[in-house]
Amino acid sequence: MGYMIPMRVLGIETSCDETAAAIVSDDRSILSNVVLSQLDDHRPFGGVVPEIAARAHLEHLDSIIARARDEAGVDLDALDGIAATGGPGLIGGVIVGVMTAKAIAAARNLPFIAVNHLEAHALTARLTDDVAFPYLLLLISGGHCQLLIVEGVGRHVLLGTTMDDAIGEAFDKTAKLLGLGFPGGPAVEAAARDGDPARFHLPRPLKGRPGCDFSFSGLKTAVRQAALDLGHDPSTQDAADLAAGFQTAVADVLADRCRHALAEFATRHPDVSPVLVAAGGVASNQTLRSALTTVSEAQGASMVAPPPALCTDNAAMVAWAGIERLRTGAPDTLDFRPRPRWPLAELHAAQ
Ligand code: KG4
Ligand code: ZN
Repeated sequence: MGYMIPMRVLGIETSCDETAAAIVSDDRSILSNVVLSQLDDHRPFGGVVPEIAARAHLEHLDSIIARARDEAGVDLDALDGIAATGGPGLIGGVIVGVMTAKAIAAARNLPFIAVNHLEAHALTARLTDDVAFPYLLLLISGGHCQLLIVEGVGRHVLLGTTMDDAIGEAFDKTAKLLGLGFPGGPAVEAAARDGDPARFHLPRPLKGRPGCDFSFSGLKTAVRQAALDLGHDPSTQDAADLAAGFQTAVADVLADRCRHALAEFATRHPDVSPVLVAAGGVASNQTLRSALTTVSEAQGASMVAPPPALCTDNAAMVAWAGIERLRTGAPDTLDFRPRPRWPLAELHAAQ
């Protein structure tokens, strides 16, 4: 057999407020990974404004793709496929990414692969750490909080999900409440460094209950009530203590839920040495990562979390998910329609 040229895919991510393009090779190397954050465009509004996001993606995507191509030193003709996030996400941005990807694919006669954004987060640990199927996944992002078993490409078993707020949303709302700014997750983490997590007594929703579901709205309400009980606007120290209390409560809840999920994983896959993978933007939080490492080790499992820059939204994960789908013989999806909602449960195995 002759030398095999690695498969290379361009990935495009436009489902929220990052305009991103990356080229990844199937030998697990990231040849380029360009992310343009629109944070400054949205900051005056205290959150992501969908219409502003869509326009910004339209304005910047072409030049971000050109940079990804130049930094990788790979011409578009040398690619094996074009992958773009096809949902779930803010639909205006998703349409910009999908239509751009389809146009390139059609012009270069390459396959187009519509990637589910959640699956892209889910598969990132295989790009960074070569994790084998099946593994337990804690998906913690701006819009989601789920525990699932990833059994293969397009094959997931849902063990638990949030009954109310997504976890990233809880971080973002807590930050807003405490006047810590936007985006909330990194702001809460930074403030918590100078805080006393024991000063305020906050609830741990569902901790100790059976199952793997989550709930965060009661915790968020308790933070609001504790801030009101101060009788004045939170000082810097008050905000730090509340941020630390909130973050520690979240860490406790995640550890409890993951303990149950690891037990469930062991029952279903007794012969597999268990790995807990954390993915999604919230998985870049260091306090949460160390809580997850502790609970995993106590259960005889190892914990894998991609480096923070590959936890938050990026296009390398989209390119990699495209590679995984192409490898399993996934068909071209040039007729794909962008999807604002696209639960993992509706994803099909690639062949
Ligand atoms: O995965 P992601 O980049 O976008 C979505 O697909 O949702 O996740 C964004 C979420 C936001 O809610 C953000 O506040 C949160 O991840 N986040 C964090 C941290 N960095 C980002 N939450 C807690 N601690 C962090 N360091
Ligand atoms: Zn995401």
